[in-house]
Amino acid sequence: MPNLNWNDKEKLRMSNTNKSQQVHPFNTKELLKYPIIDNFGSRTQLIKKRMEEYQKRKESSKGMINCLIQGDNKDIMNSLLPIYSKKIKLIYIDPPFGTGGDFESKVLIGEKNAFEVSKAYSDSWNGGIDAYIDFLYERLIIMKDLLAEDGSIYIHLDWHVSHYIKIIMDEIFGKENFKNEIIWAYPAASAKTRRFFIRSYDSILFYTKSKDYTFNDDPKIYMEYSDRVKFALKNDDKGTYYHRGGSHNGKKLSQKVYISNMGIFPRDVWTDLPYIRANTTEYQAFSTQKPERLLKRIILASSDKGDIVADFFCGTGTTLVVAEKLGRRWIGSDIGNHAINISRKRILDVWNSNDLINWDQKYDELPQPFRILRINNDQPEIKKGKFEIRMIKERKKISIELADYFGLDLNLINDKLKIKIETFTDWIDSWAIDFYCQNDYFTTTWISYRTLKNRKLKLSSISYPYTTQGNYTIAVKVNDILGNETIQKYDVSID
Ligand SMILES: C[S@@+](CC[C@H](N)C(=O)[O-])C[C@H]1O[C@@H](n2cnc3c(N)ncnc32)[C@H](O)[C@@H]1O
Repeated sequence: MPNLNWNDKEKLRMSNTNKSQQVHPFNTKELLKYPIIDNFGSRTQLIKKRMEEYQKRKESSKGMINCLIQGDNKDIMNSLLPIYSKKIKLIYIDPPFGTGGDFESKVLIGEKNAFEVSKAYSDSWNGGIDAYIDFLYERLIIMKDLLAEDGSIYIHLDWHVSHYIKIIMDEIFGKENFKNEIIWAYPAASAKTRRFFIRSYDSILFYTKSKDYTFNDDPKIYMEYSDRVKFALKNDDKGTYYHRGGSHNGKKLSQKVYISNMGIFPRDVWTDLPYIRANTTEYQAFSTQKPERLLKRIILASSDKGDIVADFFCGTGTTLVVAEKLGRRWIGSDIGNHAINISRKRILDVWNSNDLINWDQKYDELPQPFRILRINNDQPEIKKGKFEIRMIKERKKISIELADYFGLDLNLINDKLKIKIETFTDWIDSWAIDFYCQNDYFTTTWISYRTLKNRKLKLSSISYPYTTQGNYTIAVKVNDILGNETIQKYDVSID
């Protein structure tokens, strides 16, 4: 069988094999277990009711492992191996495409329409395409170990490298386990070139680990009939049909084809899933964000409720929210602060997103508890800011007001952004309180966050009722618009 060779394949592989044996412990940074979210607006009553229901069945959520892990996915996946080897039913990844460029995310500022564009992640490679292939190759090998024997993997790429990666996938997963190259075609935005045809599709390589794999013939993944068929529909006493034409020996033939209202079983060319537009609820202002409906088809086809779905290049968390809404457990990771922040808020805000089955309705459920983890591999913590609070104590109740925030050294911040910041609140993207801080991690009891569509931020928390006298530690956490996180702790006594 032909193999792909690239510069230093063997050398790099050997050195990476040694490095890849490193397993690091995970530290929980934050536990989000049905926190009180202060952004419900007109839906407050409904969500409060949901929250009460969830509080009551808290215990049944034991054992959920949903987690969002910050760091380089090579270390993360290696460190997951001791527990999750052969346990993950579905891996979808949408890695950098080897384009040689940088990708952007919009940073929104305060309540006005001000924003700045900031780098979301880099896709340029010292060492060119060889370095890129090497990067993905070693990660795909670890993904194979994590994948369950009846599991599937989908690699989302485009014309830049999909041809190389297909050969590599044949080598790692076996040519016989190739299932589809899915063409996700979308209308190209603008076409500057007249020198070749406009590129308007991505390729998603679908492989399984073995020949016994999960694949569900679920009507919810079906495609709609094409417009040509829809316009030609007629009815008779047997149902709705269209005529399929053709000819044989010069003779015209026509055949009635009866349709089912489920649509058609999906082909490998997907033209029915629009690209994200800025006016949609799911839009996160992150240039390579993928549509939820794309992940819906993949997750419904290749996993069942309760299965573990992973995305190690999770970006804005699309795979994770779709897995959440479809009742799967999920693991996500990303190296970028912005990506982790966006995913964290997007999962918390999942109640406010489109329902995947009835797209015109809201999902209206709270997320299952999830953790934000960080891998303990001696990497320096991100730089922190400083803030001031006012604590209001009324008998056994405490509430907190955020009074000021001092970001990082202003010299480090670009001028265009600096002039748009008018008050300290413009810095704040979300802030949260752990009223009962007992662990070395932060348990969010209350949170207020801005979303793209709802820019309001509450500066005063709820009044938290303590039931017993004693000394407590309250931790307050501020996440700023640049992705920096600062935690400060306060000791209080309740008499
Ligand atoms: C194309 S984006 C993913 C977009 C995502 N599918 C979505 O819908 O938002 C690729 C992501 O991979 C992340 N990434 C790149 N290298 C990584 C690494 N070594 N470890 C973890 N994440 C990485 C980037 O930070 C970026 O967020």
